[in-house]
Amino acid sequence: MTTAVFLNNDKKMPLLGLGVYKATKENEAENAIIHAVKCGYRLIDTASAYKNEEGVGRGIAKCGIPRKDLFVTTKIWNNAQRLGDIDGAFQRSLDRLGLDYIDLYLIHWPVPGCYLSTWKELEKILSSGRAHSIGVSNFGIHNLEELKKVSGIIPAVNQIECHPLCYPKELIEYCQENGIQVQAYAPLARGAYLDHDVLCVLGTKYAHTPAQVGLRWAVQKGISVIPKSTNPERIESNARIFDFTIDQEDMDLLDTLNQDYHSASVPEDLRGISL
Ligand SMILES: NC(=O)c1ccc[n+]([C@@H]2O[C@H](COP(=O)([O-])OP(=O)(O)OC[C@H]3O[C@@H](n4cnc5c(N)ncnc54)[C@H](OP(=O)(O)O)[C@@H]3O)[C@@H](O)[C@H]2O)c1
Repeated sequence: MTTAVFLNNDKKMPLLGLGVYKATKENEAENAIIHAVKCGYRLIDTASAYKNEEGVGRGIAKCGIPRKDLFVTTKIWNNAQRLGDIDGAFQRSLDRLGLDYIDLYLIHWPVPGCYLSTWKELEKILSSGRAHSIGVSNFGIHNLEELKKVSGIIPAVNQIECHPLCYPKELIEYCQENGIQVQAYAPLARGAYLDHDVLCVLGTKYAHTPAQVGLRWAVQKGISVIPKSTNPERIESNARIFDFTIDQEDMDLLDTLNQDYHSASVPEDLRGISL
């Protein structure tokens, strides 16, 4: 199967990426990226909120792959949205990363009262060429519909929590019908399904690990995955998802495991707000 997709602006994005949330110890993100690139990863997912953009930048600089062959995502955090400091926040991310462009710049969360104006600022960043694509994260259908009313630019990506225990089918289908690439964060549910009976049985059947089955389930649906690991063996293992195919009946079985289980929590400053 293909290992990349074309976004709605014809930019190519790998289906597999490395997440680096919580990789904040000294050289942790840097070393993870250097190893991941050796294992074939070409997409790195960070955010200003992860407080590791400098380390990510060092990893990118040292990994031995030309910048143009990497796909780097970062995100604007909620406080910058509330301050209206969009371009400033973007430029600080660029500076910390040591880059002159970002492949994909995302609105991390749809901060009520802010995200529509944030999007208009992202449009300007896009037209300046400093971000090659812009997109959103944690947006529901109602947020995407609001965006459509004020902008002719459809988000290239909606990054949401997605794995066999959290399968927001209606949102995914809405995105796919509207040309928005879905990207699954926490695609391992931070470990929550790795000892699930069905995942273990299918792991044995396909001679892969439960983690690989869960990741494969998503990419086989055309959903990009960004598993996080700083462990060399797990970084390598999480990348071995393109050498097998899950039968349709097993895909259907995995679809039934949804329990709307969210391993990532809503940020404190957005709790209680309808997202
Ligand atoms: N947009 C958003 O709001 C949002 C929210 C959450 C996450 N994200 C992005 O999505 C990325 C992934 O999500 P996540 O980090 O929350 O969760 P995840 O990728 O589902 O799980 C990461 C956890 O699983 C462990 N792990 C990794 N591979 C494993 C394997 N093969 N077997 C067993 N354990 C394994 C990791 O530990 P080791 O490092 O020790 O392997 C880590 O503790 C983040 O890093 C971030 O880039 C975005």
